[in-house]
Amino acid sequence: MAAQTLKINGELVSARAGETILEAARDAGIAIPTLCQLNGLTDVGACRMCMVEVAGARRPLAACTTRVTEGMVVQTETPKLQTYRRGVLELLFSERSHVCAVCVANGNCELQDLAIQLGMTHVSYEYLAPLCSVDISHARFGIDHNRCILCTRCVRACDEVEGVHTWDIAGRGTNSRIISDLGGPWGEAASCTSCGKCLDACPTGAIFPIGSSVAGRQRKPDRIAAIVAARRNRAEFENG
Ligand code: FES
Repeated sequence: MAAQTLKINGELVSARAGETILEAARDAGIAIPTLCQLNGLTDVGACRMCMVEVAGARRPLAACTTRVTEGMVVQTETPKLQTYRRGVLELLFSERSHVCAVCVANGNCELQDLAIQLGMTHVSYEYLAPLCSVDISHARFGIDHNRCILCTRCVRACDEVEGVHTWDIAGRGTNSRIISDLGGPWGEAASCTSCGKCLDACPTGAIFPIGSSVAGRQRKPDRIAAIVAARRNRAEFENG
């Protein structure tokens, strides 16, 4: 595949044609914050944490969904982008109820990690904090909608990797909720195989194993990419 040359933060970087800015940056050791992106899943550009500035573009672009082009000039760490990312993060915190001290994912949460990384000390917006339901009808897992950031990683892991599409999104705007099957209790979702891939994919404490205590939830987000890579390798091997 043809190589493309671009500049990221003033550094010349080579990328394969068709790669995203995020992939090219990571290959070059340049970190860009992400939330909805998870290796092994389709990129949807939902959270806007990975916004970067591209010369000639009139607005910041999502690095996870923007493909590299020859001669592209990208900035990943300008003051404008830092303000933008802080704003996105504060909006996420203000939309639901993220009280880390009583969360099963405390110390093991990508949202919390980003808040620390970006130096977020307070939220400038009014908290909506709607009283969302907690569904513990499943024998092994629960979902706390108060912790959900609607990144859809669980939806994509269930659909693209497990292939059953138990999860989806219903509603609009602040009323959007992750639902199982047609919106009934998770424990009654006939399509669910109890594989736990949604748990591995979830970046916060929204999906948790039943019985996990504060700070007790462990995730293995790399498991999703490992499964996808193993399947690809097997298919390539079988097809010669
Ligand atoms: Fe790119 Fe969420 S990581 S938009």
